[in-house]
Amino acid sequence: MRKFQEISALQNFLWQEQKAGKKIGFVPTMGALHEGHLSLVRIAKQENDIVVCSVFVNPTQFNNPEDLAKYPRTLEKDVQMLESVGCNVLFFPTETTMYPEKSTLQFHFGYLESVMEGKFRKGHFNGVALVVSKLFHIVQPHKAYFGQKDLQQFVIIRTLVQDLMFPLELVRCPIVREANGLAMSSRNQRLNLQEQETASHLYKVLKKAESMLMSHSVKQIQKAVKEYLLNIRGIELEYFEIADANTLQIIEDLSNFRGDVALCIAAYVSGVRLIDNLIIENF
Ligand code: PAJ
Repeated sequence: MRKFQEISALQNFLWQEQKAGKKIGFVPTMGALHEGHLSLVRIAKQENDIVVCSVFVNPTQFNNPEDLAKYPRTLEKDVQMLESVGCNVLFFPTETTMYPEKSTLQFHFGYLESVMEGKFRKGHFNGVALVVSKLFHIVQPHKAYFGQKDLQQFVIIRTLVQDLMFPLELVRCPIVREANGLAMSSRNQRLNLQEQETASHLYKVLKKAESMLMSHSVKQIQKAVKEYLLNIRGIELEYFEIADANTLQIIEDLSNFRGDVALCIAAYVSGVRLIDNLIIENF
């Protein structure tokens, strides 16, 4: 695997590959890699000639400085994992490379910033849009791979790509889970085994909500989710929403809805903020 920390060295390499007609797939990450990230690289490998993965803990998307400080950084292990799945290129820039000057550029995503992650993590998507735009300009991939795990991030980036006409195709990849159902996340490293078992109830309650979709109202499902989680010690619910999986418009009345439904949840387990979702297609 080729490793680059400087933009110009990376671009010199990629331009040669582009000139030779190679298709470039791109997987942006913040490191502390796990099987979820690797699944994106594997999918990208199948669809491209060269796969570039970036590892950059992006400070501008953290609205909580403590969360940024505690974010796990495991570059050596990340390199080994990327090599094990045949990733071709690693880009791991420094903070001054990505932000030589403090950026004051602002993105506004309207409605998408007023619900769920947008509502509870003010400024988060601004930082995501900023760094992903920079990375797209630097790498200039044919295809870029993102996980359904961060569904709202995917919808935000789809908006960014459409509105700014980035000449690339976005691919949404399925959520990879632990055996107990817990969605893999770099943040899980901050949980001990018992806390991870507690956290798996996020998935279990999503499955319960899914089982109620056909025969219950949104209000009834909301109530059942809250009651379920009140009985699990150590989980603090932040939100549970039922939304249109493509637009993330909140669904108030399921009987009138046709399309793909997303069940989205965010909660704290022992001070660690976790998110998860399930998509029910063609509801
Ligand atoms: P990070 O949290 O490292 O995630 C990188 C990519 O891996 C994202 O597209 C995310 O959705 C995906 N991913 C995480 N857990 C997953 C799982 N269990 N199954 C499948 N995919 C999973 O998301 C970010 O980094 C950053 O916001 C970034 C886009 C890199 C911008 O800084």
